[in-house]
Amino acid sequence: MERTCLAVILAAGDSTRMKSSKSKVLHPVANRPMIAHVVDAVAKSDISAVALVLGRDAEEVAKAAQVGSVKIETYLQKERLGTGHAVLAAREAIARGYDDIIVTYGDVALQTEGPLKAARQGLAEGSDVVVIGFHTDRPTGYGRLLVKDGELIAIREERDASDAERAVKWCNSGLMAINGRKALDLLSRIGNANAKGEYYLTDLVEIARSVGGRVTAVDAPEIEMTGCNNRAELAVIERFWQERRRHEMMIAGVTMIAPETVFLSYDTVIGQDALIEPNVVFGPGATIDSGAIIHAFSHIEGAHVSAGATVGPFARLRPGADLANGSKVGNFCEVKNGKIGEGAKVNHLTYIGDATVGAGTNIGAGTITCNYDGVNKHETLIGANAFIGSNSSLVAPVSIGDNAYIASGSVITADVPADALALGRARQELKPDRATLLRERALAIKAAKKPKA
Ligand code: UD1
Ligand code: CA
Repeated sequence: MERTCLAVILAAGDSTRMKSSKSKVLHPVANRPMIAHVVDAVAKSDISAVALVLGRDAEEVAKAAQVGSVKIETYLQKERLGTGHAVLAAREAIARGYDDIIVTYGDVALQTEGPLKAARQGLAEGSDVVVIGFHTDRPTGYGRLLVKDGELIAIREERDASDAERAVKWCNSGLMAINGRKALDLLSRIGNANAKGEYYLTDLVEIARSVGGRVTAVDAPEIEMTGCNNRAELAVIERFWQERRRHEMMIAGVTMIAPETVFLSYDTVIGQDALIEPNVVFGPGATIDSGAIIHAFSHIEGAHVSAGATVGPFARLRPGADLANGSKVGNFCEVKNGKIGEGAKVNHLTYIGDATVGAGTNIGAGTITCNYDGVNKHETLIGANAFIGSNSSLVAPVSIGDNAYIASGSVITADVPADALALGRARQELKPDRATLLRERALAIKAAKKPKA
């Protein structure tokens, strides 16, 4: 029979060490709040219910935690008296009676369902408390797992630890599983006689043992268990996240020449055989189809690049950019809310905003869609197989028909029908021999200025 499970997520901490105007669990990893990553992992652990313990910025955190279809109950921990006290804020949920309780932290952003399931397995095998530990060369700040004769006998917080205990490199991730039928009794026995005067959840180890309970530990990869107390640790978590996702993508068939320089968002989708050159940054909402090429130094957000399309180098795709098959957006071009049709080319120094560019159209260097009048945004519609001469300004709202030809340097303020040629610039004047005259005059002026010998 399936065991029932309540997941308690602690996210009430004051985040003092983060030195921030907002709770640390709201800080993003891969452009998504940490708490959302955690809820995602918990939701994959076959749980029956989620209790989210909130304190600072409760409303914002509850909102950021709403991902997918997981139903979340929120509990307020009014005073921050420690992790043991925090779990008891969800007393009502725990008292409903579950076979398993898992406790996890809102700031352990890279956790996956694997260790949570392993800890539950420990309960199923008869443990009353199963602590998830990890090995690290940088144990500073973490509680240490003290093991004797193969049993977990205690978790010692850094500030309460002796020098010998501090040398231990097996650390408490903070995540654990507790026998759901015994949890309330064990939790109520936690006191606050320690260096911080807090109710430490970690005391559960000694408490469970003192009443004859069985306590074990399971090991998890360090990368998944890294907690976030300050900005330096936030950067480490970001790095780990990026490394993990790039690796997954490369294994799935994406080519990255210098993966360590490519930055992905939590929802970046890249198809097989796409090529990502060095120094490319993906903001949220980017989808790159199979075989597309993203050249170096491009920034892509809220955009879709179809198969066989080419972007960059030095291109910026903003939300609503949609590049069809075989289209090209080249160096120093920006596309925002713009559809670039099949095989269309926007090769150099161009801004396409609130616009549609038809299939096969060529947009010359330096073309600007003037979409903003200082108050409102307007649309530019360009048909198929049109030619927009270099350095043209298309003042929206305006439409340019199929096969139309815009002369270079034009300022286009009125619609151009299909097949027409539009010239919107001063007519060229020609003055024969005038250049020679101008040069002679200039030389004469220069000669007059020279001091006489
Ligand atoms: C805790 C563990 C430590 C472990 C480390 C892993 C204890 C006593 N210590 O230390 O052994 O190695 O996590 O990262 O458990 N929180 C609340 N209410 C509170 C206090 C904390 O909700 O009153 C939440 C925080 O938001 C955070 C989590 O609990 O998500 C951990 O709190 P934090 O203060 O970061 O604990 P550490 O001192 O790092
Ligand atoms: Ca912590």
